[in-house]
Amino acid sequence: MNSLTDPAIAAVLDSLHRKARGDTFVFLRALPAVVWGAFQGRSVVESAKPYLKDAYIPIDRAQGQALYQFARARGARRVVEFGASFGISTIYLAAAVRDNGGGSVVTTEMEPKKIIRARENYARAGLQREIELLEGDALETLRSVDGPIDLVFLDGWKDACLPVLQLLETKLSAGACIFCDDIKGFRKTLKPYVDHVRANPARYASVELPLGDGLEFSVVL
Ligand SMILES: C[S@@+](CC[C@H](N)C(=O)[O-])C[C@H]1O[C@@H](n2cnc3c(N)ncnc32)[C@H](O)[C@@H]1O
Repeated sequence: MNSLTDPAIAAVLDSLHRKARGDTFVFLRALPAVVWGAFQGRSVVESAKPYLKDAYIPIDRAQGQALYQFARARGARRVVEFGASFGISTIYLAAAVRDNGGGSVVTTEMEPKKIIRARENYARAGLQREIELLEGDALETLRSVDGPIDLVFLDGWKDACLPVLQLLETKLSAGACIFCDDIKGFRKTLKPYVDHVRANPARYASVELPLGDGLEFSVVL
């Protein structure tokens, strides 16, 4: 069974990946603010944030396929995602959870417009039963999430990836898989995260996978 071949899910993913190409125009609109911000010492993300409310900034198809396969291999029944946006990555993860026999993907988003659109997309894919979307800042909403967690996907703003992982660490199952996206593009911001997952080889085995913009893949030992 592979729910990614389910016509409803495949159609929603096709349509979302196509629409996400419009991000190019969002980035072009943000360019003057980014250049001006650079002169004032602000980071690209900080300057671009007001524009990113409308951007998908999703994983690509190969990353989605890989997340699905890792989640299947792990037999993941409980998944936590930081950063849903319009719901593309959540759909890949929820498809895997459903094919593993059922469970839940707890995901998080703080942009009200994206929350509405993500919920619509989950429903169109027929995966709303597998997905719980927590609204607001993940650093608050994920405090009370239950474990054991089999897979974590970290794809919100990069300075919060390590604090979010630290919120979840006591709830991770043995063999849990943790992924953090955009390691190449945000090497400096994510250095504390990468140092953390590589600092203790008895706790995590970790490696950067050449997928998308670099996907750090860690396993709880
Ligand atoms: C790169 S996008 C996520 C893309 C999504 N994972 C996908 O592949 O379709 C990052 C998202 O994280 C959200 N986000 C960033 N920081 C957050 C926080 N502290 N709490 C909740 N959502 C957050 C942003 O609003 C944005 O929509």
